[in-house]
Amino acid sequence: MDTIAHSGPRAVSEDPLSICRLSRGERGLFLRWRDGSESFFHHIWLRDCCHCPACGDCYSSNRWMVPCDVPLDVSPRGVRIDACGGLVVEWEPDGHVSRYTGHWLHENRYDGSARESRRFRPVLWDSRTPGQPPTFDFTGVRESDDQRLALYRALRDCGCAFITKGPCRPGAVEDVASLVGGLGESAYSPIFDLTPKGKVRTAGNTTRPVPPHTDEAFRYSPPGLMILGCVHQAREGGDTVLVDGFRIAVALKEKDPDAFSLLVRHDQNFVRIHEGTLNQQVRAPMIALDSDGEVCGVRIHTRSSGPLDLPVDLVEPYYAAYRHLTRLMMAPEHQVRRVLVPGDFVMFDNHRTLHARTGFDDTRRHFQICNVPRETLHERLRLLAAACGCGDEARMALPAGAVR
Ligand SMILES: [Fe+2]
Ligand SMILES: [Zn+2]
Repeated sequence: MDTIAHSGPRAVSEDPLSICRLSRGERGLFLRWRDGSESFFHHIWLRDCCHCPACGDCYSSNRWMVPCDVPLDVSPRGVRIDACGGLVVEWEPDGHVSRYTGHWLHENRYDGSARESRRFRPVLWDSRTPGQPPTFDFTGVRESDDQRLALYRALRDCGCAFITKGPCRPGAVEDVASLVGGLGESAYSPIFDLTPKGKVRTAGNTTRPVPPHTDEAFRYSPPGLMILGCVHQAREGGDTVLVDGFRIAVALKEKDPDAFSLLVRHDQNFVRIHEGTLNQQVRAPMIALDSDGEVCGVRIHTRSSGPLDLPVDLVEPYYAAYRHLTRLMMAPEHQVRRVLVPGDFVMFDNHRTLHARTGFDDTRRHFQICNVPRETLHERLRLLAAACGCGDEARMALPAGAVR
């Protein structure tokens, strides 16, 4: 293995993310930065990530190279550290030259500890967690970038936030939604009235208690960020209840790993039919994991689940697991309960946070609900974080949700 240390006097800047040492290995390069961090990069990875004008870049759709253009055992003819502490590689067999800054390589290193440091870590909450989910003032969020970034971070980290002192008129949920973006699709109407006065289409149009659930679990892509607002509260009852779906999934994994694994590996059959107007169905697991085995979304809706369609020997174990999960979601210690009044809203990630309400008998109670796509929230968060100088947050990979 050859080791090349940059030797040019004063050539390498004092920048802690400039490369100060480079070693050649058989399959790739070992780099050391001035801040002391070290990482390995495969030759094939470096060659694939060349962003010269001929190869193009992987960010802006101007990517001209196709992976099969490069042999798997591609190797450098020469490597060096440039005057700015960047890496320059000249490739066999054609002498193609690739340049990478020390910063870009540091941001994109992929050894275990680097990947771990970039991992999203949700803040799990239940009824005993002080200050969670957090509360924001509507005007503050609308008028301040700092407050808006704090709201976006709360929605990312906790999957839920309350908004107070907002507008009280019907339709105000859209004003609150606009703190994040434009309205998303729904199987019903873009702004849905939850009131027992109208035609009964869903449990939301009754006075009955509604158990915790994620909305429209019967769609391939359930709505993302929900905005629920109070127009008129009942004299008594009608409390809003929230459950951290990641919290109960993790609790199930700890208490009953076999049950957790059944709900991850096998599909629930989610169905919603309104004769002649709506007929949606999807088979999907209630708990979705990312490729590292971390929970990245939940899809839990007892009112649109079943008839279960699983191999015979799985039916009873599946029901045992499903019962355990629903016991956790119904447990008071997992339920955060609030009485919303006109001007109060709750925004929540529908791929994580379950919502519910207690029963009531005042038929004037009127809530409204709408949604904004999750991608919009995550995109606005990246744009605002980048504008505020928080590049690490702008690059963080966020949970994709209950995508299957
Ligand atoms: Fe709902
Ligand atoms: Zn190139």
